Amino acid sequence: MAGRIPQSFIDELLNRVDIVDVIEQRLPLKKAGREYQACCPFHNEKTPSFTVSPGKQFYHCFGCGAHGSAVGFLMEYENLAFPEAIEELARSAGMEVPHEAGPAPRADDRRLDHYSLLEKVERFYRAQLRQHPQSARAVDYLKARGLSGEIAQTFGLGYAPPGWDSLSSHLTDAHQRQLAIELGLLVKKDEGGCYDRFRDRIMFPIRDRRGRCVGFGGRVLGDEKPKYMNSPESPVFHKGQELYGLFEARKAGQKLERLLVVEGYMDVVALTQFGLSNAVATLGTATTPEHLERLYRTVSEVVFCFDGDAAGRRAAWRALENALPVMRDGREARFLFLPEGEDPDTLVRRIGADAFREETVDSVPLSEFFYESLCQQVDTGSVDGRARLVELARPLLNRLPDSVFRDLMLERLSQQSGLKLPQLQQRVFGKPAPPSGTGTATESRRRDLSRSPVRMAIRLLLEQPALGSGLDSPMGFEDLDLPGVPLLAELLELTRHSPHLSTGAILEHWRGRPEEQHLARLATSRLDLPSEGFEPEFRGAVQRLIEQRNRQKAENLLTKERQSGLSSLEKSELVQLLASGQPNSGQRT
Ligand code: UTP
Ligand code: MN
Repeated sequence: MAGRIPQSFIDELLNRVDIVDVIEQRLPLKKAGREYQACCPFHNEKTPSFTVSPGKQFYHCFGCGAHGSAVGFLMEYENLAFPEAIEELARSAGMEVPHEAGPAPRADDRRLDHYSLLEKVERFYRAQLRQHPQSARAVDYLKARGLSGEIAQTFGLGYAPPGWDSLSSHLTDAHQRQLAIELGLLVKKDEGGCYDRFRDRIMFPIRDRRGRCVGFGGRVLGDEKPKYMNSPESPVFHKGQELYGLFEARKAGQKLERLLVVEGYMDVVALTQFGLSNAVATLGTATTPEHLERLYRTVSEVVFCFDGDAAGRRAAWRALENALPVMRDGREARFLFLPEGEDPDTLVRRIGADAFREETVDSVPLSEFFYESLCQQVDTGSVDGRARLVELARPLLNRLPDSVFRDLMLERLSQQSGLKLPQLQQRVFGKPAPPSGTGTATESRRRDLSRSPVRMAIRLLLEQPALGSGLDSPMGFEDLDLPGVPLLAELLELTRHSPHLSTGAILEHWRGRPEEQHLARLATSRLDLPSEGFEPEFRGAVQRLIEQRNRQKAENLLTKERQSGLSSLEKSELVQLLASGQPNSGQRT
C-alpha cells in the first residue's frame, strides 16, 4: 500500500516527469526506434539490453530483468527508500509532496529509529577506538594484524569497551535502550535493566546496500571464545541477505568485474587494504540464493574462496547448489581453493595482490568443480558408475535455468557418461528436445490468446492503458471464477477512471502487493502492434471472458435446478443465458 503519500499525488507526479529525463541525467541513453537504450547500470554488460520506453514510462533490462517506473529507477540507482525517491522526483518537478493526515505507518516509523540508533552506536564505538582509556590495546591489536589507520577508517572499525554498561550508560533515554534491545546490542536482564552484548571487542559495522549500518560483528582481542559475535537478526538486519563489504566494494569506484566471496570480516578488510577492493563476506552463514541474486546484480562473475580442506570443499559444494538456480546465461561462478592453513588474509599478505589476483583468474569453473565432485563419488569406468553419475547429476541439472550453459553442462554429462544427447535429454529433463519450427508466430499467438484471455487482456491494458477508457462498468465477466479475473477487473476499473496513466504509473498502484511481480512481467513481455491496432484483440479477449462467465453461470444454475430448483428470477436468467450462448446471438461487445 502507498503509505502516507496519497496515490493520486504519485499518479500526478509520474504524469509530469519523464522517465527518459530522469534516467538520462544519470546515464547516457541512445535512441533506438521508439525506445532508448543503454548498458544496464544494474549488471555488468558490454552490449546494451537496458531499455527505456517513453510511451510506457517504464524501464526494463532484458539481461538481468531489472524493471520499474521512474520511482523504481531512482530507488535502485540512487539507493533510495520509496519516500525518498518520491521526494527527489517531486523536487525535480517543482512539486511539494503532500502527506495524508494521521500518524505514519508504525512499522516504517520504527525502522527509521532503528537505523538512526545504529548510526549513533557506530559513532560511539568509533569514538571509543580513539578515546577510551583502554583503546591502546585495541589499536595495538589492529596494528599487529597489519591494518592501516586508513583501512580502519574506510570500514568504520570501532571498539566496544570492556565492562557491562559502556553502551547502555551512553544511551540515556529508555526509548533508545529499548531499540538497542530490539537490535540485540543490549541484552535484557531477568531482574530488570540491561547489559552490553559486545564487550572488549573490535567492532565491524555491517552496512546494507545503501551504506546504512544494520548490525555489527565483534572480534575479541585475544583467544577467548567465541572469537566473533554478530548482531542477531532484527527488523533491519537479515543475515541471509546482507554481504559484508558489498557497499564498500561498490563505493571503491573502480568498475567491478567480479566479486570474491570470502569467509571472514578480516579477509575482506585485508584484501581491500591490498587493493583487492572487490571482496565480500557472508556473515557466518552459508551463501544463500538471495546473496547470489544480489551479487549477480552487481557483477557477472563471482569467485568463491574456500579452504582447500574437506570442510571447505563441503562449504563450496553448498554454495554451488545454491548458485545453480541463478546461473542464467552470462553469469559465471568459479571456485578458489586456498592452500592448507591459509585464508585470504594470510595469503594476500604472503604472496601479494598481483599473485592473489592471478589465483582468482585461474580458479576452477563451476562446471569443472561440479563434475569433478560427482565423478569422485562413482566409478566412471563401469556402466553402473556411469548410470549413477547421471542419477546424481539429474536433480542438480534440473535446478539450472533453461540456458546455453545448461545445454553445455548436459553435453559434458553426455561425454562423461557415454549416453547420447537426446537420450540424456529425456532422462534428465523428462522430455525430448522440442521439434523446431512448429506453427507460425500468428498461430502461436492465437493459441496463447485462446488459452488465456485474462492474461492477454491484462497485457494489452498494460501496453495501452487507454483501452480501458469509455468501457461499461461492469463489463459482465467480473464474477467469473478464474485466477487473474479480480486483478483484471481492478486494472480495468483503474484505467477506466484514469486512462491517461502510463504503464509505469499503473504499476506503482501495485507496489508491495503480491501481484506486483506478475504484473511487471506481463508489462515487459513484448507485443507486436497489429495493423488494426490493439483494440479488436482486447475486445475479443473481453468478449471471450464474458462468454466464459455466462457458460459458468448457466452451468451453476443448471446444477442448482437439479439439486434444489430455481426461483422464477433465476429461471428467467437461465433462459437468457442459454439463449445468449447460441451461436450468432452474441451481440454484446
Ligand atoms: P574465521 O575464524 O575464519 O574468521 O571465521 P577470520 O576472519 O579468519 O578471523 P581472524 O580474525 O582472522 O581470526 C570466518 C567468519 O565466520 C564467522 C565470522 O563472520 C567470521 O568472519 N564466525 C567465526 C563467527 O560468526 N563466530 C565465530 O566464533 C567465528
Ligand atoms: Mn583469518
